[in-house]
Amino acid sequence: MGAELPESRSRRRAVDEGERELPCPNGWFFLALSKELAPGRVLTRRLADEDVVIYRTHDGRPHAVRPYCPHLGAHLGAGGTVRDGNLVCPFHGFAFAPDGTCASTPDGPPPRARLERHTIRERNGLVFVWYASDGSSPTWEIPETAGAGVTPTAFWSTEVQAHVQELTENTLDLRHLPVVHHVRLRVLAPSRAEGPCVHTRLRLGPARPAVLRKFQLDHAFLLAGMGCLRIEQPLRPIGLVIFTWALHTPTAPGRTRLVLATACAELHRSRFAGMSLLRRPLCRALARVLLWISVAQVQGDVRIWNAKRYEPRPRLAAGDESIGLYRHWVRQFYPTP
Ligand code: FES
Ligand SMILES: [Fe+2]
Repeated sequence: MGAELPESRSRRRAVDEGERELPCPNGWFFLALSKELAPGRVLTRRLADEDVVIYRTHDGRPHAVRPYCPHLGAHLGAGGTVRDGNLVCPFHGFAFAPDGTCASTPDGPPPRARLERHTIRERNGLVFVWYASDGSSPTWEIPETAGAGVTPTAFWSTEVQAHVQELTENTLDLRHLPVVHHVRLRVLAPSRAEGPCVHTRLRLGPARPAVLRKFQLDHAFLLAGMGCLRIEQPLRPIGLVIFTWALHTPTAPGRTRLVLATACAELHRSRFAGMSLLRRPLCRALARVLLWISVAQVQGDVRIWNAKRYEPRPRLAAGDESIGLYRHWVRQFYPTP
């Protein structure tokens, strides 16, 4: 599934303006599902206009490196293999240890050469890599979602022609919710910035048809940098909770990969005592249904993102306070001018 990307001269001009205004922000960005990265697997993903090679050694640990071999420049994601805990280059067989040093060659002592590594983390079945424009180390961690066993079971992705900041801003743009998503909303807890995270809680329900107006669900939003939005929706009457992740990865100037992922878990294990056989398929089915609903909703956003331009000095109106908070909060992820 994917959204149509409109091509036009004015659109290209808007992207160019956005590029000048907004560099790639620092932070954690999603690159793969844990289950895609089986032991011995080597993958190439795009982040900040560069390839990143991620691989998993047979001890279960994930690793991420810049793609080019320091010997003669082969791309390690194009045929590289994992052997004896090392990443082996497909060109002359030099083997690189997890710390990046060249551990061996097929026919002589290894040179003093080192792969450039990225910092990598796994949270809830999702693999994140740290990006900083100056190559500095992580200054914060992606929060683990309650119940470390919660991992997404349904996924969808698309490519969006917009800067990652635009996608994340959508979370705090309350004014677009009735217009684009046709929902009624009540703010349960206003947006609160806490270092690299923003928390907010909303009660959302369909605005129409009238018979559905009484159905409302509480949503707790957690933004962790610009790369990860997690939404928690407790379904108290049936003792379950749905988690939705919107994962935003800047792939190139003015382009972002958007992944939606959903998981369903029990609020209270005891509620499902005696139903353990049914529990797993029910949770998977609910996660899938919620994913379909989220994808249908996000299509409205994607249409806007693909055609809009970035407004560095927006003319905010009363009711847009959370956007002001957001624009202030995002400054921490860019290098100081
Ligand atoms: S280019 Fe990698 S071993 Fe020669
Ligand atoms: Fe939206």
